[in-house]
Amino acid sequence: MSVTDRVAIVTGGGRGIGRAIAVRLARGGAKVALMDVLEEPMAETVKLCTEAGSPLAKAYKLDVTDEEAIEKTLEAVNEAFGSIDILVNNAGITRDDLLMRMETRAWDLVLAVNLKGTFLMTRTASRYMMRQRRGRIVNIASVSGLAGNAGQANYSASKAGVVGLTKTTARELAARNVTANAVAPGFIRTDMTDVLPPAVKEKALANIPLRRMGEAEDVAEAVAFFASDAAAYITGQVVAVDGGMVM
Ligand code: NAI
Repeated sequence: MSVTDRVAIVTGGGRGIGRAIAVRLARGGAKVALMDVLEEPMAETVKLCTEAGSPLAKAYKLDVTDEEAIEKTLEAVNEAFGSIDILVNNAGITRDDLLMRMETRAWDLVLAVNLKGTFLMTRTASRYMMRQRRGRIVNIASVSGLAGNAGQANYSASKAGVVGLTKTTARELAARNVTANAVAPGFIRTDMTDVLPPAVKEKALANIPLRRMGEAEDVAEAVAFFASDAAAYITGQVVAVDGGMVM
């Protein structure tokens, strides 16, 4: 599964699943450009990527909802790294509440980061990939986007949107040898899920056939596969990494 010397952008690469993806790609020999709103954790991820064997790892402070900043940052990456071969759209947030109580602001924010951010990053990165007639786009969706989840109207809609966007991206870019696939994590142990009340965690665990929460590394393995040469003939697919929760 080679990603040697490929240039990979990982959004939300500061911590959690994004960090695990960046480190996994680094271990495969990829050059890694991290993008996150948080600078401090990104510096740590850069260190981990270098230790894992990445020939080049850099951090870029970026909000994925900022259209202009995306254009500039990707231009800077292309200058510094020489190409953009892999884009992992991982940055994501939650603002959970029951539908009847959900504030419009919470809806807008989650859709802006999770869905619009993925679109904006894809639009800009795909230009570089199409020009070089090679590219891999891997979007991080969620089982909430496949099966729905009470309390996550905004989040599940954004992630279902990511699935649709992935399939359209796959269709539009296939002729230029650019693939687009999505990984849908289930219940993964990160800062995002650490804040959930114990009762919610218990309930989720009861619905996981493999009887454990996933690790960020479990997700990273699937992403690394889609990003590699081994997945050359796979596009438009969604794979759940969820211990069997949704099947
Ligand atoms: P996390 O909260 O630990 O990390 C998310 C990262 O994204 C943070 O470093 C954060 O600073 C960054 N980020 C947030 N907004 C941003 C923005 N506007 N621009 C750039 N970076 C931004 O979350 P976690 O758990 O690592 O999640 C990563 C992805 O996996 C998300 O897309 C999430 O929706 C998805 N996911 C997570 C699951 C879980 O159980 N943890 C389950 C299913 C999906």
